Amino acid sequence: MAGATGSLLAGGIFILLLAGWLGQKYGLPPPPPKIAGIDLGTTYSSIGIYHAVTGETIILPDDLGKKSVPSVVAFLPNGTVLIGTRATEQQEHNPKRTIYDAKRFIGRNFEKNNKDFLSDQKRYPFKINLDSEGKAFFEIPLDSGTKNVYPEEIGSLIIGYLKSAAAKHLGVTLGQVVISCPAEFNEKQRNFTAKAAEIAEMEVRRVISEPTAAALAYGLHKKQGVENVVVVDLGGGTLDVSVLWLQGGVFVTQAMAGNNRLGGQDFNDRVQKHLISKIAEKFGKTIDNKEDIQQIRMEVEKGKIRLTNVPSTTISLNLKTVGKWNYELTRDEFETLNGDLLKAIELPITAALADANLDTADVDEIVLVGGSTQVPAVRKIVGRFFKKSANYGVDPELAVVTGASVQAGVIGGGWPLQVAAMELPAKRRKRHFFTEEQKENEKDRTISEL
Ligand SMILES: *[C@@H]1O[C@H](CO)[C@@H](O)[C@H](O)[C@H]1NC(C)=O
Ligand SMILES: *[C@@H]1O[C@H](CO)[C@@H](O)[C@H](O)[C@H]1NC(C)=O
Repeated sequence: MAGATGSLLAGGIFILLLAGWLGQKYGLPPPPPKIAGIDLGTTYSSIGIYHAVTGETIILPDDLGKKSVPSVVAFLPNGTVLIGTRATEQQEHNPKRTIYDAKRFIGRNFEKNNKDFLSDQKRYPFKINLDSEGKAFFEIPLDSGTKNVYPEEIGSLIIGYLKSAAAKHLGVTLGQVVISCPAEFNEKQRNFTAKAAEIAEMEVRRVISEPTAAALAYGLHKKQGVENVVVVDLGGGTLDVSVLWLQGGVFVTQAMAGNNRLGGQDFNDRVQKHLISKIAEKFGKTIDNKEDIQQIRMEVEKGKIRLTNVPSTTISLNLKTVGKWNYELTRDEFETLNGDLLKAIELPITAALADANLDTADVDEIVLVGGSTQVPAVRKIVGRFFKKSANYGVDPELAVVTGASVQAGVIGGGWPLQVAAMELPAKRRKRHFFTEEQKENEKDRTISEL
């Protein structure tokens, strides 16, 4: 493996150097951007470009000013499609036709009685089904009949939305893309991620792993003496830890571990349950109205974001079941409610390091990705674990799209030259970890299915 890696590496670097030398020698003007970087995330998606003149990446907002667009697609009964914030805004009134988390199903085949799939079927308010090959699709009830939509089609609608948002800013349509996907994605999942872009009429120049993209966002490929990088990505519903080995601008994924049921949404669920039990205590009423639950869910999310800056915040509700009610949520209480979940972050980090044969002291750089790494307790835990603080400065929600855009710039031949950014495919499998609560649920599920 070392020999093959070495020669591949040397060949790639040589070509990049040659390209750079030719560019500088003949003083070619910087080309206009034509390749976008896209982060097609589970909960949020973004688009960016590499600006060849300034050497900066620019993340382009949509017409509502959002750089992170919710990965949500809604259908109205008459077939009208809403994407992003417009889809989330009407979600509570249209749960059966508002699709989120589609990425969790992309490029995967399921057995009819797969227990993860069965529990997903129950978990989501919209209908998911399997076709004869075991591919998941969403069943959307429309006035004109049921519409079946595949996960890659949901992806393509999101990509198309980002593409047109970018076109409005740039005055040109970007026809090519570097698109990111989780490091653990296999060939087929990468293929269907690429297919989503192709349906949106973008030529895929490269599919890049999210952790590699995040490392590129911090310019770690250009930094002296950096060899081992740990990327901790905590999003809405998944925790991914990757150990990257960096040699001469080439990233190799050495180890991956994670928990695909741990993220910001789980933190919210804890707070939501807590509020619902407080309401039961105070009013003697059970909250089971769908719109009430949705309202609590959204207000908890907003409260959590406020808590990243302040030690205490008021959650204001106006529920169908009990009317107006306020709750003062402190950061301490948030951390107590989520204590075991926060602690569970350490498990995959420990395992990934062990798989890569590294001690915490061997780790040169730590990169935090995903909105949930903005939770102060998460930063504290990671910092304490490595005894050093993580890279900061790039918005963790935009680190992946920033890196994908850097890669797009490199491929597009943007100057100044960056010797950088190649990636060798991971040969290792990701290790999965679960919290105690998840293990319990797992048991219940197995028993109830028997
Ligand atoms: C579909 O319904 C929405 C909401 O009722 C309405 O705003 C929109 O104009 C309709 N679109 C068409 C094509 O009829
Ligand atoms: C996906 O896989 C199919 C079949 O193996 C192949 O024909 C196609 O080119 C692949 N598409 C991409 C974008 O990789």
